[in-house]
Amino acid sequence: MKAKILVTGGLGFIGSHTVVALQERGFEVVIIDDLSNSSLDVLGGITKITKTTPEFEHLDLRNKEKVAEFFVKYPDINGIIHFAASKAVGESVENPLLYYENNLNTLIYLLQHLREQKNPRFIFSSSCTVYGQADELPITESAPIKKAESPYGNTKQIGEEIIQDTCKAHPEFQAISLRYFNPIGSHPSAHIGELPIGTPQNLVPFITQTAIGKRKELAVFGNDYPTPDGTCIRDYIHVMDLAQAHVVALERLFGKREGPNYEVFNLGTGKGNSVLEVIQAFEKVSGEKLPYRIAARREGDVVAAYADTTKANEELGWRAQYSLEEALDSAWKWQQRIGR
Ligand code: UD1
Repeated sequence: MKAKILVTGGLGFIGSHTVVALQERGFEVVIIDDLSNSSLDVLGGITKITKTTPEFEHLDLRNKEKVAEFFVKYPDINGIIHFAASKAVGESVENPLLYYENNLNTLIYLLQHLREQKNPRFIFSSSCTVYGQADELPITESAPIKKAESPYGNTKQIGEEIIQDTCKAHPEFQAISLRYFNPIGSHPSAHIGELPIGTPQNLVPFITQTAIGKRKELAVFGNDYPTPDGTCIRDYIHVMDLAQAHVVALERLFGKREGPNYEVFNLGTGKGNSVLEVIQAFEKVSGEKLPYRIAARREGDVVAAYADTTKANEELGWRAQYSLEEALDSAWKWQQRIGR
């Protein structure tokens, strides 16, 4: 029998790529998505790649009754990968209650239902944002959790704590939090990719939209940071690598017999690149000249963050395979496919 996995937010950027990876590995997938930051077209994109249409339920996870009905309809879920969440940092500062409701109530409802199952397995989308500006680089999983810079970041910290407490109280639970660094890129087929709604807040979609002429120029947020070229450093990881890591983490939960029932892993490449390096790499792979100007620093940005990936390498047996250039090339192909 194939294991059936619930992927919440499965039509989103990381979710959709993970659904493809799960199907290619033989898992059956049921997607829940409220389409607030995604589109039904993504289902078609997934089907084009895997020749299999995942089951799909259009559902807002804040609706507790609907969530209960879902689990009555699908009593045979063998694990949950929970992507569904709001992720705009600025918006979370303006509307914190929305973020706490969207990102925490939904998590609690899912865990409550999972508890009733025989083998509760759960994977949580966390973020390197939990480390804030780490004192030491690269960042290991044991680096202290800093006070969150935003309600969004706080939902990731509290989310992890909720799962950790649940695992402590219920030893039959098996859960993993994956702390993503900066996910970029798209499926090489360009059938699925990142679909930011409105003006992109993240660097790479802003770059590709500028290159295609949808935006006038990129503002580089600060070049007076204490880094070699003065711009911030991040660990940009191809979404294909990230998707693969979810499959590996899930298989770990299926195979687990001993050891802690809650674990945390960094998912990054282990390599830091500055904003200017990303621009240069993009220009190289696309052959386009990118219009940009240096602007003021953005509030809340940390100077540098990149992962120590030793734990994921050794314990998950996973390692990022794609280069920055390959990730940017795929992001550019996707942008060219969807146009302006
Ligand atoms: C941001 C969030 C992080 C969240 C992640 C989710 C902040 C402080 N952090 O990560 O909590 O998990 O998004 O997607 O918001 N940059 C520019 N010009 C732009 C856009 C970005 O110069 O138009 C720079 C930024 O200053 C930063 C780098 O590019 O140095 C990456 O920015 P971004 O893609 O927004 O990711 P993070 O800020 O690392």
